[in-house]
Amino acid sequence: RQVHVVRHPLVQHKLSLMRSAERSTQGFRRLLNEIGMLLAYEVTRDLPLEEVEIETPLSRMKTPILSGKKLVFAPILRAGMGFVDGMLDLVPSARIAHIGLYRDPKTLQAVEYYFKAPPDVAERLVVVLDPMLATANSAVAAVDRLKERGCKELRLVCLLAAPEGIERFHGAHPEVPIWTAAIDSHLDGHGYIVPGLGDAGDRMFG
Ligand code: PRP
Repeated sequence: RQVHVVRHPLVQHKLSLMRSAERSTQGFRRLLNEIGMLLAYEVTRDLPLEEVEIETPLSRMKTPILSGKKLVFAPILRAGMGFVDGMLDLVPSARIAHIGLYRDPKTLQAVEYYFKAPPDVAERLVVVLDPMLATANSAVAAVDRLKERGCKELRLVCLLAAPEGIERFHGAHPEVPIWTAAIDSHLDGHGYIVPGLGDAGDRMFG
């Protein structure tokens, strides 16, 4: 069970700006995008390389390029979309799988309303994106669905996680590592992360 807390100062600084209730929609969106780029850097840190031979203007040389699986970013709608542009800035060739889930406010269960993945998703490394890991019902449902489609190698990137969410997520999918910028205190009675940053989807889209 792996949980990587990304303590990079730029990530921590930007996250603090996002938490503030004063932050505008525009500012919130921009910061989430920027953090997306930094988290993409972290989640790809251990990707395998292979040596290939190329020719520079001066000579031949062996040089490393990425080998192994190509990437799919799988944002959970809506808030997960906030990470996508930043991540694509770093990995422009990645494919995107859209996973539409909303959380029923009464039961807190994840309800699916959309799922569209590239045809070769099962052959790729899939990075599931959702800024908030609260009860983890959404992330568990997203990974369930991707596994049904044959995906074998998965990772989860969030911005904030509740301890309860990490526990539940790894209870269901122990082999899927998590990257997060912070682990907050707890969930409140409505399933919101405390102190958190409110509802990421609403803060981004209105
Ligand atoms: C929120 C959030 C996560 C989910 C987290 O989405 O963006 O997707 O809830 O909660 P969980 O871990 O308890 O499942 P919401 O249902 O509000 O949809 P939205 O992103 O469209 O606003």
